[in-house]
Amino acid sequence: MSTPAPQGEDRIELLLATPDFPPSAAFAAQAEVADAAIYERAAVDPDTWWADQARQRLDWDTPFTEVLDDSDAPFYRWFADGTLNVSYNCLDRHVEAGLGDRVAFHWHGEEGEQRDLTYAELLADVQRLANGLKARGVGKGDVVGIYLPMIPEVVVAMLACARIGAPHNVVFGGFSPTAVRERLEVSAAKALITADGGRRKGKTVPVKQAVDEAVDDLASLQTIVVVRSADAPCPMRAGRDVWYHDLLAGADPHCPAEPMEAEHPLFLLYSSGSTAKPKGIVHTTGGYLTGVATTTATVFDLDPERDVFWCTADVGWITGHSYVVYGPMANGCTSVIYEGAPDYPDKDIWWDIVERYRVSIFYTAPTAIRACMKWGAQYPAKHDLSSLRLLGTVGEPINPKAWLWYHTVIGAERCPIVDTWWQTETGSIMISPLPGLTATKPGSATRPLPGVSAALFDEAGGPIEQGSGVLVLTRPWPSMLRTLYKDPDRFVQTYFSQFGPGVYFVGDGARRDEDGYFWITGRIDDVINVSGHRLSTAEIESALVAHPVVAEAAVIAASDELTGQSIVAYVTLRAGTAAEPALKEALRQHVAERIGKLARPKRIIWADDVPKTRSGKIMRRLLRDIAEGRDPGDATTLRDASVLTKLQQATAQVDQVPAGAPETGNA
Ligand code: PRX
Repeated sequence: MSTPAPQGEDRIELLLATPDFPPSAAFAAQAEVADAAIYERAAVDPDTWWADQARQRLDWDTPFTEVLDDSDAPFYRWFADGTLNVSYNCLDRHVEAGLGDRVAFHWHGEEGEQRDLTYAELLADVQRLANGLKARGVGKGDVVGIYLPMIPEVVVAMLACARIGAPHNVVFGGFSPTAVRERLEVSAAKALITADGGRRKGKTVPVKQAVDEAVDDLASLQTIVVVRSADAPCPMRAGRDVWYHDLLAGADPHCPAEPMEAEHPLFLLYSSGSTAKPKGIVHTTGGYLTGVATTTATVFDLDPERDVFWCTADVGWITGHSYVVYGPMANGCTSVIYEGAPDYPDKDIWWDIVERYRVSIFYTAPTAIRACMKWGAQYPAKHDLSSLRLLGTVGEPINPKAWLWYHTVIGAERCPIVDTWWQTETGSIMISPLPGLTATKPGSATRPLPGVSAALFDEAGGPIEQGSGVLVLTRPWPSMLRTLYKDPDRFVQTYFSQFGPGVYFVGDGARRDEDGYFWITGRIDDVINVSGHRLSTAEIESALVAHPVVAEAAVIAASDELTGQSIVAYVTLRAGTAAEPALKEALRQHVAERIGKLARPKRIIWADDVPKTRSGKIMRRLLRDIAEGRDPGDATTLRDASVLTKLQQATAQVDQVPAGAPETGNA
């Protein structure tokens, strides 16, 4: 009798020893990109390669003649004398090609509601909303805030803005109204599109009401368009506020897509940096759409006739912009949008959705995979996942065990996995396998895509062929951020001042192995990554010290099995404040109000003092060692080394806040 093949955990243990995972012959045979010469071709002349992508994948009103203009580097311009409209490329041209009845999105509501939205239906709504916005004085160049749950109207809102050249500024629904206000204020938004309320796990939360208080005195904000979504109490201010359905009903149904210059801003998206002030990352029209249209097709091996694509990210993050909305729609494919949490009504809802809509390409975050792994293989086992043919991950490094669980339990060892590295700033995927070509290694994003040049530098800027270093991108690429909104100096300073002209500083550390594969190890700045959500330690510290009882706060990220990193705050209270346990909850609540629930510290540790250098700089490395239970080692540069022992004791005594259901916003 033969021994049964190992399964489950044993199988994963066995596969841990497998050096790499080449695509199956069957997958490679049908893949969109199956010839490795593509890398060479693109490397020889990247500009021509990108120009070919831009011409083949997009429809231009005025064809461009210039490709890359680097005369004002690092303010690069791509395809600058061409014009095109993003909403035309995502809607009209598909409808004109006879694909109006194709489902663009299967929308699945939290309570099991289903709505299929075709390309023709979306085009009709987008035209009406675009006209409605115009009627309210919103035109080319005016910023429109969008603060909506994962409902179909969010796609309509983004494309309506794109149609009239009004850059959108989407704020993730998990951010607080105070954060919305900040982002609208700095971008001088003329209009906001929001909803009466949001639904989360059977509860309704009023959204508009909460936003009202925060934005009441914003002078620039002339219109609030409100989608009726959750039947929540919703005050409307006459003159300023209008219901989405009324605006659409009263609007002219025809709104021709206006040709935009390729460098016209398509959107801004605020993202956390090293300081307390979020960065307004600006993406433009032609280069961004070229990047996302190309990578959606090549990295996901997408065939719009055949595939059903599901990226689980919230549209409030770059992953949602690029791979829920613009990339899939530019390719004219059918996608899924799910409104709710991955464990509601039960922990099998994602797999139920995969089965129901025959999802073939599934793209999510490592945090979500780790949560599913913890819940157990019995949930996916309830469903037929045979439609899946390709899996992807994004947002944080994936540990080999989670990769192998994804590969075996979800992918049935049949589906290639693309571990895609990129950032809000890069706009589209930069380092990733090409699934028909690349032998993958669990935990590695593998190689830069064709047309992308990445390298590792040591701190002095010397190149490192093999080993660990600082990740940089050494050539401009079409979907790169163009600047930081109203802050060009910070743009140059943050990304282009470290290593000489033209070298983009990523902010991540990485290692390269003997095969030239990149292994991203994580941020080397004060940006932290909790469940794929990008946050700034400085922003959380600034929220904490704004509380009247807090004298000082030092926030760090400690590694966390489930969420990748978790937030730990060392807080010094003002003299005379008693360190009551209830105060911790009050501080967590305070951070939720200032930034959003996602920024609440998992652990708050009372500290009489934090380790500082003689010049008064907080030594976060030592705090990280303490929070992760390591010996902080050499502390000779400290002003007062005795604080370390006290902090170690205090840290050991603090209970962690129990992990709730994971938030999987970024994917
Ligand atoms: O640290 C890297 C990590 O996420 C950062 C970018 O965060 P954000 O702008 O929010 O965009 C996330 C979604 C694109 C990066 O600097 N990161 C992203 N993808 C990966 C990753 N780390 C490791 N592996 C990845 N595949």
